[in-house]
Amino acid sequence: MKITKAVIPAAGLGTRILPATKAMPKEMLPIVDKPAIQYIVEEAVNSGITDILIITNRGKGVIEDHFDRTPALEDALQASGKQTLYDSIKHIHTMANITYIRQIETKGLGHAVSRARTFVSGEPFVVMYGDDVILGDTPAAKELIDAYGEYGKGVVGVKKVSEEAITKYSSLQVEPIRDRVFKCTDMVEKPRVDEILSLYAILGRCVLPPEIFDILDRTAPGAGGEIQLTDAMKELARTYGMTAVEFSGKRYDMGNKLGILQANIEAGLQHPEIGDGLREYLKELSPML
Ligand code: UTP
Repeated sequence: MKITKAVIPAAGLGTRILPATKAMPKEMLPIVDKPAIQYIVEEAVNSGITDILIITNRGKGVIEDHFDRTPALEDALQASGKQTLYDSIKHIHTMANITYIRQIETKGLGHAVSRARTFVSGEPFVVMYGDDVILGDTPAAKELIDAYGEYGKGVVGVKKVSEEAITKYSSLQVEPIRDRVFKCTDMVEKPRVDEILSLYAILGRCVLPPEIFDILDRTAPGAGGEIQLTDAMKELARTYGMTAVEFSGKRYDMGNKLGILQANIEAGLQHPEIGDGLREYLKELSPML
């Protein structure tokens, strides 16, 4: 079955980057000149997704505004002949069918995804974490969707991380199938050192079959008292097996301060307008570091 639906959970509190996130959702923080969540929606569209559900919450209305029309701005840009800017603004509200649902209670990523049952209506779908931006030549979601087509099982997007980092993420039991593709039969969220299964962690993307919703409904709160998506995927992995794909792009964590700066510097260096200026500035700074 062709995958055309994506769910973007964006209802978290973003406590790691307060006070920036007191009134501004972290998913709207910019990487140079574009909010993080727009990169994610564009990745979805470039992966063949046509319908997107964004899970929001109180204080996240600006996400809906961003993907809505802005008639006054569009008229002003057209009147002043700024066609390229006009096209880039129009693209934001025309690129996909985007709908929204509120999580109401912030009970964890697994709980947020469980709100998507009606939208998904029995089809496999992609989950794209709203604060994980992945930049690269091939969209990460497409790499996962292709693996779903090939192996017919749920897919997790993974990267190898350090021993220190793995205890903050999830750790997967993996067996290589071929370059960058693994069979995954078990996983643990935020493992203690003696629970680490491998240094492969799920980062930001997965493709899930609709069976996940019944599992989520009976998943008890786990690490941090939250309903963890990893705990539900663990049952999926143990029962049906999953596929793990080491995606080719680079992932930036917009949920932590260093991740935001790294994303801005690296995307800034690639940016046609400011790349050269930023490179010069960093060279000037580097002797002082
Ligand atoms: P995080 O755990 O990184 O987000 O969730 P958080 O809870 O906002 O983080 P901190 O610890 O308070 O800084 C990953 C993604 O899942 C969403 C977040 O918005 C983020 O995009 N999420 C998380 C939800 O939609 N609902 C939740 O209950 C938790």
